Amino acid sequence: MTNSYAPLREDRLRRLLPGRDLLRLEEVNSTLTQMKRFAAAGARDGAVLVAECQTAGRGRLGRAWSAPKGAGLTFSYLVRRSLPAAHAARLAPAFALGVCEGLRDLGIGQAGVKWPNDVVVDGRKICGMLCEMELDPAGGLAFVQAGIGINVHPFPLPEELREKACFAASYIRANREELLAAVVGRLDRFVSLACEDFPALLDRYRQRCLTLGRQVRASGGQCAEGLAVDVNGEGELLVKTVEGELVALRTADVSVRGLLGYV
Ligand code: BTN
Repeated sequence: MTNSYAPLREDRLRRLLPGRDLLRLEEVNSTLTQMKRFAAAGARDGAVLVAECQTAGRGRLGRAWSAPKGAGLTFSYLVRRSLPAAHAARLAPAFALGVCEGLRDLGIGQAGVKWPNDVVVDGRKICGMLCEMELDPAGGLAFVQAGIGINVHPFPLPEELREKACFAASYIRANREELLAAVVGRLDRFVSLACEDFPALLDRYRQRCLTLGRQVRASGGQCAEGLAVDVNGEGELLVKTVEGELVALRTADVSVRGLLGYV
C-alpha cells in the first residue's frame, strides 16, 4: 500500500483550535516525550502536540504503538490545572470519554469505551491511550497528559491485530484536522467535568463503558475472572467472581467477552 495520506495541515488546525498552544511536528520519538518538553517550556492547559509519525510510539504494558506516516492521529493532550495529585487518576475516564464522544459527534455512533480507556467500535479497537503525570518538586501535580492514538486510515496490521482493530475512515469521511478538533473540544469539556463534578463524569463514563455487564478475564498485573459490575470512584473495575467475591481491578489487561476477539 502506498503512503499517500493527506498531510495534517497546520493552518487548518490553528483555525479549528484557536488560541490553543499547538505543536504540529513531522516526526517524533513519542508525543509523550515531546509533550514533556513542551510542558517544561510553558505549554498551557489544553495544549496539543500532534505528530505525523512516531519512531518509538509507546503502548500499554510496555508494548510498542506504530502506524505509517499520516495514517493515524497521534497526539498528546496536556492538563495543567490545580488538582490534588491524588485526583490525577480521575482524568483517565475523562480522556476516554472525550475521544469516544468526539467520534460519536462525527457520526461513529457505536463508539464505546473498553475499561479503562480503549475506545472500541463494533467490537474492535479504534483508539488507545496512555496517561502520564508529573509531580512538581513540592509533590504537587505539575501536569497530566494523555497520549492518544486514533486509527484513521486503514493500514496493514500484524496478523494478531487484524481482527481486533478498526479505522475511522471505514465509518466516516475522515478529515484528521476535524477529527482532532472534535476530540479536543470534548476532552476540554470532560476534563472540566472531572475536576468540577467527578461523580457526574463517572456516570457519563459508565453509560459508555462497554465492559460493564459483561464477562471479563483480567491478566497481567491483577488476575480475576467474572462479571464486570461497576467502575468505582477510584476508576477501578469491580468484578464479581463466580465465588461471589468482589475484586477491584486497578491495572490489568482485561479481555471482555464479545470485544476484540474474545469469545
Ligand atoms: C495502547 O496500548 O492502547 C495505548 C496506545 C497509546 C498510543 C499513543 S500514540 C500517541 C501517544 N504517544 C505514544 O508514544 N503513545 C501514545
